[in-house]
Amino acid sequence: MQSNPDIKAPLWLLAELTYRCPLQCPYCSNPLDFARASEELTTAQWIEVFKQARAMGSVQLGFSGGEPLTRKDLPELIAVARELGFYTNLITSGIGLTAKKLDLFADAGLDHIQISFQASDETLNAALAGSKKAFTQKLEMAKAVKAHGYPMVLNFVLHRHNIDQIDRIIELCIELEADDVELATCQFYGWAQLNREGLLPTRKQIADAEKVVASYREKMAASGNLTNLIFVTPDYYEERPKGCMGGWGAIFMNVTPDGKALPCHSARQLPIEFPSVLEHRLDDIWYNSFGFNRYRGYDWMPEPCRSCDEKEKDFGGCRCQAFMLTGNADNADPVCSKSAHHGKILEAREEANHCQMTIEQLQFRHQRNSELIFKTSV
Ligand code: FES
Repeated sequence: MQSNPDIKAPLWLLAELTYRCPLQCPYCSNPLDFARASEELTTAQWIEVFKQARAMGSVQLGFSGGEPLTRKDLPELIAVARELGFYTNLITSGIGLTAKKLDLFADAGLDHIQISFQASDETLNAALAGSKKAFTQKLEMAKAVKAHGYPMVLNFVLHRHNIDQIDRIIELCIELEADDVELATCQFYGWAQLNREGLLPTRKQIADAEKVVASYREKMAASGNLTNLIFVTPDYYEERPKGCMGGWGAIFMNVTPDGKALPCHSARQLPIEFPSVLEHRLDDIWYNSFGFNRYRGYDWMPEPCRSCDEKEKDFGGCRCQAFMLTGNADNADPVCSKSAHHGKILEAREEANHCQMTIEQLQFRHQRNSELIFKTSV
């Protein structure tokens, strides 16, 4: 089915099993109109997707959502994926996880678990997640994950309301014996983009956090602590864009709960009709579909990307960000200072300097927007 020998197989398949989730984070990565996609692939349909991906050469399979633990067939899906030879990774909030489920996942052969936290203390965690019980449950499950002998990644999405606690966040991760810690500043897609004003940290907050991370890295190296701290800064404070997804249709494929195949988790919002795994084979989608070929290579690029000597490094940046901020996904990512739309990024930085929004106001606004969008989506 491969018609272009320059296109390599997708190494990483992300299976977004569901958009259902018990939490209500203001930076949720679900699409805004996720209520429209209420259908979910069946167990048999997911297994067929995994078989086709593995036959193409995919090696890593992430189970994500929404909250993938809401799928009762998760142990079966993990077992099939492992039998097929995938390296399997569960990306979860930890809500709904139990010691019994961990036993089932271990029996099924799950390789790796990532648990996300909202903050280092119960009060802020509850305010951000919209759930009072979430923090205690996450702590218990992080301990249980380690007790089961899993390599564990703890993920904290950082923003203006929790980034100043980064020292306490790192302390908590050390206490929980995390192997890897992702301190990932919010990326502005979906709900995070809608709530950006209340989330984007200031440049000073980022710089202060960077210093704290650097000092912990030094201290931990000196004491022989092997916890790996990964600090991801927001591209809103860069002058050159990120090479999003390692390039469009280069290494990554996302399948949504209702079976759309996407080159990134946000592409559903673009004015492109992406194919469904219910109607097309995965290899046909990857190699031949219009959507996956739309931004491959460099021929599609207008200026300033076309003549830029960094285009092979950043691929013109992120197509979804270009679309969200300029209305046209062909444009250079406005993060780039060469973009004619870079002013949008400068405005956002300025907005962050003057924002007074409290966490309560942010959550109130998020709830109100969720209700409004939900009503218009269904
Ligand atoms: Fe879609 Fe960057 S998130 S291309």
